[in-house]
Amino acid sequence: MTTPAQLRELFLFENLTDDQLGWVAENGDVVSYKAGETVSVEGEPAECFYVLLSGELVMVRLVRGDEVEITRSDSRGAYSGATQFYLGDQVDQVYAATIRAVTDATFLALPAAEFAARFNQWFPMAVHLLQGMFVGLQNANVLVAQRERLLALGKLTAGLTHELNNPAAAAVRATETLRERFSGMRHKLAMLADGHFDGLQLHQLTKIQDKFVQRMAEAEDLTPMQVADREDELGEWFDDRKVSGGWDLAPVFVAAGITTSDLDELSNVVDSGFLEPALRWLAYTVETENLLIEVKESTKRISALVGAAKQYSQLDRTPHQEVDLHEGLVATLVMLAGKKPEGVRIVKEFDKSLPRVPAYAAELNQVWTNLIENAIDAVAGDGTITVRTARDGDSALVEVIDTGPGVPEELRRRVFEPFFTTKGVGQGTGLGLDVSYRVVVNRHGGDLRVVSEPGDTHFQVRLPLRAHDAAGG
Ligand SMILES: Nc1ncnc2c1ncn2[C@@H]1O[C@H](COP(=O)(O)OP(=O)(O)O)[C@@H](O)[C@H]1O
Ligand SMILES: [Mg+2]
Repeated sequence: MTTPAQLRELFLFENLTDDQLGWVAENGDVVSYKAGETVSVEGEPAECFYVLLSGELVMVRLVRGDEVEITRSDSRGAYSGATQFYLGDQVDQVYAATIRAVTDATFLALPAAEFAARFNQWFPMAVHLLQGMFVGLQNANVLVAQRERLLALGKLTAGLTHELNNPAAAAVRATETLRERFSGMRHKLAMLADGHFDGLQLHQLTKIQDKFVQRMAEAEDLTPMQVADREDELGEWFDDRKVSGGWDLAPVFVAAGITTSDLDELSNVVDSGFLEPALRWLAYTVETENLLIEVKESTKRISALVGAAKQYSQLDRTPHQEVDLHEGLVATLVMLAGKKPEGVRIVKEFDKSLPRVPAYAAELNQVWTNLIENAIDAVAGDGTITVRTARDGDSALVEVIDTGPGVPEELRRRVFEPFFTTKGVGQGTGLGLDVSYRVVVNRHGGDLRVVSEPGDTHFQVRLPLRAHDAAGG
């Protein structure tokens, strides 16, 4: 039994009126538990509001099968159990955690529903404020998530625009030059056909031209030394045959993999007086072919980027599906390629035997983006980022590992808080890990944690391989 006087010693109750305290003493049961006994079970209907009177309690939550300790307390007056009783049916009234007695312990147990009704009468304004705060927090969380999505979209668009700009500009430039070259070729063709060049020679020249184009496709990469040597050889060949301006033809032919023996073939079929126009003609061929290759490569790159963007944003997919995690990881790496500084190496260690995972693919891509961007920031222009997948029990494990300075012990919890950032104004929002945590834990029933020491930081995402009842937000 407790008396109102004893209850008044507890900080929770110190300012209650005598009447109120009388109600608490009358309706509260003092219950005793032996060390190790369970007081309430996570997920069961929250019927009692518990106040610790003596002993020590521990609160634990089940996270993917593992018990995680949330708090431990031996303070008289520590409260637990139905702590959201004042929210009534605005929330699911279930115990958020399991409470256990660490030592023999006694609690004052108040029936939550009755206590809530009294509480409302006693402190109507406080209840309004508490409910307002709760709804406000919920809304803030939704807004934060939306804002982060917008930011991510903005960053993505900026990155993509930048990435698309290079190949698009290259294709435009190459097309411009092609136009000039084609007009030059028309002139040369007129000169070649100027009576001195018969049909047979023209025919053979065309054959050599085809051969050159073929040679270009097979051209090997030469070292600068080899290039210089070959240019010298060709330069001499031109000099010997009195071809003027041979020195600017040489680099074009060398780049195309053409050697003096190819040119010998040409000089066999063309009259010496027309060797130079024929060479110029072939040089045009080589140049235009190069430009066409560049246009093709640029447009291929544009298609690849658009493909990655589509994959990344999952434009044509249903939201929840069986996902190959590697697709999203690869798409994310493509999207981030432009953000990666020169000195940062990306290594993919994919376990291709990993089964598909039931997931919201687009949301996971946001997680990969946040983790990889953080890793890029962490290595500060010089280091290695490893993206690794593996199976871990009944979960898929995705790790983003970096060689940066690491997350100091005292920050390891805080980095997951919204708006927590160590980056400068305009550089960090502090939302990346908060949003990632929500996506992984709340949406997928998975787990996100950091294991870190200087030079070796692992952000680990675990996703259950079997379907999970996805909760909101
Ligand atoms: N790979 C990492 N290495 C070291 N610190 C990290 C790493 N990833 C995140 N952090 C720390 O966590 C903080 C919060 O990260 P995040 O929520 O993504 O916000 P932001 O990147 O905008 O700062 C970062 O400011 C940084 O201090
Ligand atoms: Mg970040």
